[in-house]
Amino acid sequence: MIRTILITAALSLTASIASADVIAERKAGFKGNVAALKSIKAALGTGDLTPVIGAAESVADWSARMTSYFPEGSDEGETNARMDIWLDFDDFTTKAKSAEDAALKLAALAKAGDMDGAKQGFKTLAGTCKTCHQSYKD
Ligand code: HEC
Repeated sequence: MIRTILITAALSLTASIASADVIAERKAGFKGNVAALKSIKAALGTGDLTPVIGAAESVADWSARMTSYFPEGSDEGETNARMDIWLDFDDFTTKAKSAEDAALKLAALAKAGDMDGAKQGFKTLAGTCKTCHQSYKD
């Protein structure tokens, strides 16, 4: 009996540590996103599209992995993630995919040297961040 209680306590402790880790990791990923968007904005101002390529690709890379940092139940703790994420995980995944697609498109426009397209692509990408936050972030 005591053994069962201890094992259960140990397991739930492990679960909450794992959850804290994943929350910290995803926050770091999102901070990387903001840094990337800032560098893209700065580059669009200078007229040199070269830095936009790598920055947009890093946003695409994170967006492709993002949903795996949201295991069920990780709305507990130091997080602004809403539990709505797990009520419609397909929609959450679709919104992450929109961010990935917009970031890849922006990278392609930057590679092609299309400044006007890249400016528009940047707005579209920033819009995908906002759309997801409105539904799923406090
Ligand atoms: C598919 C949904 C989704 C997309 C797309 C998305 N985010 Fe988020 N973002 C979230 C959620 C959910 C959180 C809350 C994470 C937490 O607190 O655990 C978050 C948190 C953040 C945070 C706060 C991190 C912290 O330290 O607390 C920043 C900054 C952020 N996102 C920036 C961005 C940017 C910039 C983009 C677009 C390039 C973006 N996000 C795209 C869902 C998304």
